[in-house]
Formats: sequence, structure tokens, C-alpha cells
Amino acid sequence: MKVFNVSFSFEQEGIAPVTLTGTEGESVLEIALENGIDIQHNCGGVCGCSTCHIYIEQGMENLPEISEKEEDFIDRAVNPRIESRLACQCEISGNISVRVPDQSQFLGH
Ligand code: FES
Repeated sequence: MKVFNVSFSFEQEGIAPVTLTGTEGESVLEIALENGIDIQHNCGGVCGCSTCHIYIEQGMENLPEISEKEEDFIDRAVNPRIESRLACQCEISGNISVRVPDQSQFLGH
């Protein structure tokens, strides 16, 4: 079982960056939730919403190719960028660095 580093940084002020480890095939969403990092995941991680939107700062090549469905949902996310992905679809096969959008945007939704 291969283990890789996943570095998280946060748009929300006051949250320090952290580097965690995950095993091959685990999604960034799973790794985050297991370690107490709250990433919204309204559909439960089945590529059926856009709330688990994150930015990949490094290591896009260590993720599966983006599907059309994932692209469609990213279009509906807040501030999508070229490096946007859905965390539940990001199964790791190498080290990556991600940036988590401000989760307080979901309060009250
Ligand atoms: S949790 Fe809904 S698409 Fe990832």
C-alpha cells in the first residue's frame, strides 16, 4: 500500500496549512474528513454536487483525469479556476498540494 503526502492550505483566514498522508486510491475528501478537516460534501462524495470544490496547487498529474460530469459541477462552484477539482473525485496516486476554499460560504445553505 503506497502512502503519499497531501498538503492542505486554506483560503479561510486563521487556519494553518497542514500536511497529511493518504493511501493510494483514497480521495482528498476522505483524507480531509478522516483528519478533522471540514470540506463540505453535500452529495456524500458521488460527484453529484459542487460543494467539495478545491484547487490543486501541485500534483494534478497524480489524480485521475477529470470527467465531464465533474467539469459540469465545477462550472457551478464558486470561483472555479483552471486548477479546480472536486475533492471526492481526487483519488491520489502521488503527492499533491491542495487549497480549500472558504467553507464559511456554506453556512446557512
Ligand atoms: S461531495 Fe458532492 S461532488 Fe464531491
